[in-house]
Amino acid sequence: MCGIVGYIGNDYAVPILLSALERLEYRGYDSAGIAIIEGDKLVVEKKVGKIRELIRALWGKQYKSNIGIGHTRWATHGAPSEVNAHPHTDERGLFAVVHNGIVENYLELRKELEEKGHHFRSETDTEVIAHLIAEYYNGNLFDAVLKTVNRLKGAFAFAVITPLEKDKIIGVKKGSPLVVGLGKGENFLASDIPAILPYTRNTISLDDGEIAVLKRDSVEVYNFEGVPVSKEVFVVPWDILSAEKGGFKHFMLKEIFEQPKAIADTIGGFLSQDLTLPFEINRINRVITIACGTSYHAGLIGKYWLEKYTGIPNEVIYASEFRYADIPVDENTLILAISQSGETADTRFAALSAKEKGASVIGIVNVVGSSLDREADFTLYTHAGPEIGVAATKTFTAQLAILYLFVQLMARRRGLIDRDGFYRAVEKLNEVTRKVEKALELNGELENLASRYKKFKNFLYLGRWLNYPIALEGALKLKEISYIHAEGYPAGEMKHGPIALIDENMPVVILAPRDRVYEKIIANIEEVLSRKGRIITVGFEGDTVLKNKGEVFIGVPEVGEDFTPFVNVIPLQLLAYHIADQLGLDVDQPRNLAKTVTVE
Ligand code: G6P
Repeated sequence: MCGIVGYIGNDYAVPILLSALERLEYRGYDSAGIAIIEGDKLVVEKKVGKIRELIRALWGKQYKSNIGIGHTRWATHGAPSEVNAHPHTDERGLFAVVHNGIVENYLELRKELEEKGHHFRSETDTEVIAHLIAEYYNGNLFDAVLKTVNRLKGAFAFAVITPLEKDKIIGVKKGSPLVVGLGKGENFLASDIPAILPYTRNTISLDDGEIAVLKRDSVEVYNFEGVPVSKEVFVVPWDILSAEKGGFKHFMLKEIFEQPKAIADTIGGFLSQDLTLPFEINRINRVITIACGTSYHAGLIGKYWLEKYTGIPNEVIYASEFRYADIPVDENTLILAISQSGETADTRFAALSAKEKGASVIGIVNVVGSSLDREADFTLYTHAGPEIGVAATKTFTAQLAILYLFVQLMARRRGLIDRDGFYRAVEKLNEVTRKVEKALELNGELENLASRYKKFKNFLYLGRWLNYPIALEGALKLKEISYIHAEGYPAGEMKHGPIALIDENMPVVILAPRDRVYEKIIANIEEVLSRKGRIITVGFEGDTVLKNKGEVFIGVPEVGEDFTPFVNVIPLQLLAYHIADQLGLDVDQPRNLAKTVTVE
């Protein structure tokens, strides 16, 4: 959802900005650009398309600048074009701005500035920021930025440089993420941590309503009133290797294979975390889970566990639907806000609106220090490491792990299980790590299967109970990265509509582990078979019933009935990956998508 970076130091800025942008490319890749101060001049270079286009354009230019800002864009206002690409400047080319987010009142501001004689070049909301700063500039960039931010409505993060004050970059955060990286004789600014990992692990996460002034040897943070704020330095636990491909063809494949570690680390992190909740757990009579995309699917599975082990009713609602609906929420409601990035605007704002109504909010996030992490009353962390592939994989199974552990914690705190029961549950989850490892051995089989099925234009995924959300997730993975239409459905609902679509041109992937709904799903398989459907079943290894039905049987390691989602999602992730790869598509950066969606 746009990535911004900034560098000030003693090294050449251009290669640092470009490499930092490449690590943020998952946030958007419609266009990219940089602004640097070369001598006494502001130089802006931008290109439509991916960052490699910008790199090509800069080839051989040998800029010597030590200060600059950069941007990779996911278009919101204005089509992807060179004129709409960031950085944007005022018309005299003195102030360059890169921006992530949306300035909601930009039309009004633009009109006001045009009346004062400003001429705008682009259709973006960002350009008003550069013009406003120019309008307010009176020899002090900080003062001009301060005046500007107090005029802007919406959620945004931006960075600005000017050759009139060559010793600083100013970064602003309100609603969209921004971190400062602290180096020796150099400092960095970025939308997300992976951008700066090769240079430093010492960071400051800006809070909403803060402005950072970065110089070579100092970083100062102020609020929007211009009052200095003292900030803590956070040492990121991830290393640079975790943000590299490590020999895999794509980040997505690497991340699929990292799942056993992500689950194990999440269990370890949970057991070593202080789990004192800042609210009375026995008071909770209702849980509402809010999330988007893959995190929403994890939430759906968590609901079955929570209701099974605690009896507390749990609704799961898309965050974008929650915020504007009249859902009753009070101080006895617990909100579980699940977000890998902790920055998804819909999820954050839904959580904040529930908090205002008195609900307690537990965030489940992968990025420590993210906005949701700081806004929630309490945070449970997935320890999956950075996820770069746009399609979520390892963070999904890590979310499942933390949800399962949270449910056991709730059951324990409410006296429904004893200490031994709690640790037995943890141990069972631990064993699942090995089963997931085993399921990954299916990779070759799925690669072959992909070559057989990649030509189909529609897929149906069916599952029941815990595996209904896995059907949704399997379908989402396929459509996200292969652009093949796929639908996930509760298998029992098939006869109420989707059955009309079944013919030999639509593969049907059916999740059929031997669990409490096994007999029912076998009946659904028969229904598809009698309509000449092409069936791919996923079930426990050695299941001879399934082997004799359908075109293909994928055998996953047997697990207890709670844990089937962990092993069943693996072949679906691999199938989607190999189909997309064999179709020659950009697996890690699928069209139109962004990893972190910071607009509503
Ligand atoms: C985007 C990503 C998905 C992700 C969703 C929610 O759509 O492409 O992979 O599941 O956002 O993101 P979050 O960071 O809130 O989990």
